[in-house]
Amino acid sequence: MSPLFTPVQIGRYTLVNRMVMAPMTRSRADEAGVPSDLTVTYYAQRASAGLIISEGVFPTAMGKGYVNTPGIETEDQVTAWKQVTEAVHARGARIFMQLMHCGRISHPSMLPSGALPVAPSAIQPKGQVWTTTGQQDLGTPHELSLLEIAQVIEDYRLATRRALAAGFDGVELHAASGYLPEQFLSSGSNQRQDAYGGSVANRARFVLKVLSAMVAEAGGDRVGIKISPEMGFNDIIDANPEETYTYLVDQLPQFNLAYLHVALFGAKVDYHALLKPKFNSAYLLGGGLDQATAEAALAAGMADATVFGSAFLANPDLPERFHRGAALNTPDKATFYTPGEKGYTDYPTLSGSATA
Ligand SMILES: Cc1cc2nc3c(=O)[nH]c(=O)nc-3n(C[C@H](O)[C@H](O)[C@H](O)COP(=O)(O)O)c2cc1C
Repeated sequence: MSPLFTPVQIGRYTLVNRMVMAPMTRSRADEAGVPSDLTVTYYAQRASAGLIISEGVFPTAMGKGYVNTPGIETEDQVTAWKQVTEAVHARGARIFMQLMHCGRISHPSMLPSGALPVAPSAIQPKGQVWTTTGQQDLGTPHELSLLEIAQVIEDYRLATRRALAAGFDGVELHAASGYLPEQFLSSGSNQRQDAYGGSVANRARFVLKVLSAMVAEAGGDRVGIKISPEMGFNDIIDANPEETYTYLVDQLPQFNLAYLHVALFGAKVDYHALLKPKFNSAYLLGGGLDQATAEAALAAGMADATVFGSAFLANPDLPERFHRGAALNTPDKATFYTPGEKGYTDYPTLSGSATA
C-alpha cells in the first residue's frame, strides 16, 4: 500500500491520508475580503485531502497584498469562512487557515486610507504589484516602530482567535515567499538596529513572537509554520539562509507545534535533511512533488506528510487519481487568479464534472 494513504498524526488530529493541499492564493474574494459560495465549492471539492491549508488570508487589512484576497478580520469574513470549514469537515478533511501578512509586498491602493505598506525597514523591493488600475511598482514601505510591531503581533493573535471561531482546525503562519515574517528574517530586507534586527536571534524574534501569540490562542498542536529557504521570491535576500533557518528551526520545539511545512524550490542546501531532525513534530514536505517523489520521501522517512499545490488545484480528486494511477489534469496558469469559476471549480474529476 502506498504510504500516501496511511493515517498520520498532525498536532491533535489524525489525518486520513498524508496528502496535504498547499496554500494557494486564488483571488476570488470580494473587495471586502469576503470569500464567496464558489470558494466553499472549491475547497469542498478538494476535501479528500487529509489536510487542506487555505490560501493566504490577511490577518488585518494592513496585511493585504493582492486584489480580491480574503481576510479574517471582520464578522462577514468569519461568517463566510464558516461555510467553508463546515463543507470541508462534512467531507472528512481537516483545514488550517494560512495567515499571510504581505508587509512591503503591497500597495497603498489596497490598504486602509491609502496607507503605505509596512516592513521591518524602509527598503523598496524590486518588482511590481497588480492593482485595480493595473501593474504598479512596489514602493518604499513604512518602517514599523516597536509599538507598531507589538500591534501586528496582536493582529496575528486576534486573527488566530477568529480563524478558530470560523471553524478552522488550526492556523499556519506564512513565513515564506518574501512576505512580512520573511522580511524580518532576512538580512536584505531587515536592517534594523533594535531588538528585531541585526543578529540572527534578533531577525527571528518577530516570527517567534508571532508564533507565541498564535500558540497562546490555539495551543501549539493547532499551529503550523511554512518556510521556503532560498526561495528568493518577492526580492527577498538573506546573506546566510543556512544559518538563519538553522537558528529558527532550533527554536521551534519549545512551541510543540502541529507541524513544520517546508517547501523548497531549487535551494542549494538540502534543507529537508538539515531541518527535519531538529524538529519535534510532523514535518510537511512540499515543492514540485509528484506521486513517485512524494511516496519516496515518505518511504525514506524524510517527511510525515507531503504537500501538493498546482496538482491539487487542477485535480479536485487528486488522492483518487493517485490511488488509481489515473492521468492528471494540467493546471491552467491563465486562470490561477482570475475571477469566477473558470479554472477554479470547473476542473473535471474522474467521475465527470467536479461536484462538491
Ligand atoms: C496559484 C498558486 C498560488 C499560491 N499561493 C500561495 C499562498 O497563498 N501561500 C503560500 O504559502 N504558497 C502559495 N503558493 C505556493 C504553494 O503553496 C506551493 O508551495 C507551491 O505551489 C509548490 O508546490 P507544487 O509544486 O506542488 O505546486 C501558491 C502556488 C500557486 C500555484
